Amino acid sequence: MTVEKTFIMIKPDGIQREIAGEIISRFERKGLKLLGMKMMKLTREKAEKHYAEHVGKGFYDELISFITSGPVIASVWEGVNAVQIVRKVVGATSPDKAEPGTIRGDFVLCTSFNVVHASDSTETAKREITLFFDESEIYNYSLKIKDFLS
Ligand code: CMP
Repeated sequence: MTVEKTFIMIKPDGIQREIAGEIISRFERKGLKLLGMKMMKLTREKAEKHYAEHVGKGFYDELISFITSGPVIASVWEGVNAVQIVRKVVGATSPDKAEPGTIRGDFVLCTSFNVVHASDSTETAKREITLFFDESEIYNYSLKIKDFLS
């Protein structure tokens, strides 16, 4: 059992469509623990750092202008195998492969507007968390209510 941290960002279309609460609740319901969260508008510089691996791809310019077009909600979550578990909850990047019951399977028609981003590996998660959060913005706490209930 490896407890991991991962990075999740609700994209501008997730905010515009007013499904941020729905998206967040899916991760909570899965049992993941929220360690940090903030709303922000990405600068071009931050967006380019975040999506550096996609430089030169056909969709890159559209991706950068979309992700900087309005506020996003950046967040850090923790759980056993959190990186891969979150990717499953999110669903495949391609809408025709995203299964119903996943966030993208339920809400996304177009790859360019896919409402949420999640880290694809533990290395990426570390890089993305560091890009978006200071250490003081990540909270290390126990879910005491679970102790009361057991
Ligand atoms: P995300 O999980 O944020 O990671 C990279 C993003 O690039 C992806 O979600 C999509 O928003 C976008 N993307 C990936 N592939 C394509 C594509 N073929 N066409 C348009 N956008 C894409």
